[in-house]
Amino acid sequence: MAQLSFQLQHTDAQSSARAGLITTDHGQIETPVFMPVGTAGSVKAVTQAQLENDIKAQIILGNTYHLYLRPGLEVLEKAGGLHRFNQWKRPILTDSGGFQVFSLAGTRKIKEEGVTFASHIDGSKHLFTPERVMDIQRIIGGDIIMAFDECPPGGSEYGYARKSLDLTHRWLDRCWDRFNSTPDRYGYTQNLFPIVQGATFKDLRKESCDFVAAKDAAGNAIGGLSVGEPEEKMYEICDWCCAHLPAQRPRYLMGVGTPWNILECIGMGIDMFDCVMPTRNGRNAMLFTTGGVINIDNKKWEFDYSPIDEELPNSMSNLYSKAYLRHLFKSGELLALTIASVHNLAFYLWLVGEARRQIRAGSYASWKNQMIVKLKTRL
Ligand code: GUN
Repeated sequence: MAQLSFQLQHTDAQSSARAGLITTDHGQIETPVFMPVGTAGSVKAVTQAQLENDIKAQIILGNTYHLYLRPGLEVLEKAGGLHRFNQWKRPILTDSGGFQVFSLAGTRKIKEEGVTFASHIDGSKHLFTPERVMDIQRIIGGDIIMAFDECPPGGSEYGYARKSLDLTHRWLDRCWDRFNSTPDRYGYTQNLFPIVQGATFKDLRKESCDFVAAKDAAGNAIGGLSVGEPEEKMYEICDWCCAHLPAQRPRYLMGVGTPWNILECIGMGIDMFDCVMPTRNGRNAMLFTTGGVINIDNKKWEFDYSPIDEELPNSMSNLYSKAYLRHLFKSGELLALTIASVHNLAFYLWLVGEARRQIRAGSYASWKNQMIVKLKTRL
């Protein structure tokens, strides 16, 4: 089967936003796209039927770090890969663990060879090398798999960022070699995306964009953002990287962000996003709506029987009332987590879908500016 392809369909005249179509062996993805995060093979509190029918997710994420630790490779391989294991029929992207090892694992040590770390589950010791991480992602079976990178902490100094970037580039070469010398495992094509790093330094970021672009991969990612740097810095670096990455390949901004971050970054030329925010914040009673942000725990919603968001055409958002959802949270009912997660994801997917329509209609830039003001409102 064929390598993933990207067809650029519309480029906005007033911004760098684009609308396009990615084709994978598990189906097509309209871009810009938001990818719900299914860390351990499940989008928390949400069923696959809800992802397909209510949320209309086109692709979901999985994480190498989590899936490797639990259920482990033997279970995944015998299942025939993650698609068969979790019954998700559309494309899957797996992150490499390059981020989770640094944010979740216990004592870890970075060496030229790779990273040794202790599992956050049972403290057991493991080694991730670029080669091993390619082999693991081959077994998990994502349609898109990510290079093994080091994501330097926000606020890293130049000296550290320089050394870290050189290591990430040497690791990318090793990922590339391993990936290209191993076969697709399950009869469909897997695609490796390299990741641009370089912290907040433009010269390092440009060098990294050039290094990554030279691979001529099916798509390219930008990592190391939204890790504690000021929002304006994130935008500046994102814009800079978009300008230095090939236009004819999808650009994926990893781990970003709020609804307004997503709209700003679409305007810079980002095509793919993922973030835990809609699900994690949803589980903590924070709702993103077409009218602004709601803390559903707040007493002001006690007698508000209006739908969570009547603008959204999915059952969770326009069936259940704010008062009911508040009651479920207050009572510790599990259904609260499902309603809030499905609603927030449906909102994120609606937002990028609306962005696509505005790009196609040539009205993205003005729509975005009005929309951001609305989305940031605290209700
Ligand atoms: N998720 C969010 N940021 C990053 C990053 O810099 N690297 C990887 N591998 N995943 C991420």
